[in-house]
Amino acid sequence: MAKVLVIGGAGYIGSHVALELLEKGHDVVVFDNLSTGQKMNLFDKAAFIEGDILDPKALNDAMSDDIDAVVHLAGKKAVGESMENPSLYASTNIEGTINILNAMVCQNVRHLVFSSSAAVYGMPSYLPVDENHLKKPINFYGYTKSLAEDLMEWYARLKGINYIALRYFNAVGYDAKGRVKGKEKNPQNLLPIIMEAATGKRKGFCIFGNDYDTRDGTCERDYIHVSDLADAHEKAVQKLMTDTTSYRLNLGTGIGVSVLEVVKATEKVIGRPLEYAYQGRRPGDPAKLVAKADLARQILGWEPKYTNIEDIIQTTWHMEE
Ligand code: UFG
Repeated sequence: MAKVLVIGGAGYIGSHVALELLEKGHDVVVFDNLSTGQKMNLFDKAAFIEGDILDPKALNDAMSDDIDAVVHLAGKKAVGESMENPSLYASTNIEGTINILNAMVCQNVRHLVFSSSAAVYGMPSYLPVDENHLKKPINFYGYTKSLAEDLMEWYARLKGINYIALRYFNAVGYDAKGRVKGKEKNPQNLLPIIMEAATGKRKGFCIFGNDYDTRDGTCERDYIHVSDLADAHEKAVQKLMTDTTSYRLNLGTGIGVSVLEVVKATEKVIGRPLEYAYQGRRPGDPAKLVAKADLARQILGWEPKYTNIEDIIQTTWHMEE
């Protein structure tokens, strides 16, 4: 078992990762500035440090306490915002990652699991997308993730850090047992927006484009449950403890689900129709984005448990009930 510093561990994905690490018997220290993370997402069994990744001293102090591995999930992740406010993304996602790498070198912490994204690929030139696909991000958010991966690669070569970058496809759902209490604040993604419409927090929602070359004309995405992501992080920590190689791994189900299918499945789960309208295409949306995640299966022995979109939506809906 390892002592793991989970940076961003009070956030949406980070809290699920902390939970999974605790469940598997690891010693967990959560480091979070609570900007989007929430206190109610902390667990009694994990230590908590309120700190910022833009504060090198706080990182150094946090890592000075016999940390075996770092899981870095602290970052900004709204694609649209990254195009309007690149400096925020440059400082948090790039400078923050550099600070973490430097603190690791300083405190001799060798293992890093990094929260990356399918956004590093940009417009897919073939499907399903595997890890050899060219990295060509089309938004600044994706660029920051791609650059962070490249920085880790250099630190791996020069400073003996080994890392696993986990490239998430579309993260959705909540812990099915309800142990994560905090709902994401100001959600920007499809399913939380649908949930807000379902609970009356917003009046309806829009489907962006119904003229794509897909089954029903709406975009297809690969929705991966957050607990399956958490499981992969725990397995990545284990892998790093025994393997000196670094990896970049896709995390997805390999199943494409259209926007309209998400809407219909939600209507089924909540038992009533939803109010929505069709709008034009959103700039930068690929028609389909689906992962080939065979490498994660092979390297980590990982297998996503949630492959049915209704089951996934159910775990989101229970947060509203
Ligand atoms: N969509 C709508 N209406 C909405 C919101 C979204 O129709 O109100 C559509 C989008 O056009 C897209 C699909 O729902 O076709 C999914 O959109 P999201 O915004 O939920 O997710 P994206 O696929 O655009 O991006 C997500 C993350 C990124 C990550 C990417 C990787 O937000 O950070 O997945 O696959 F990089």
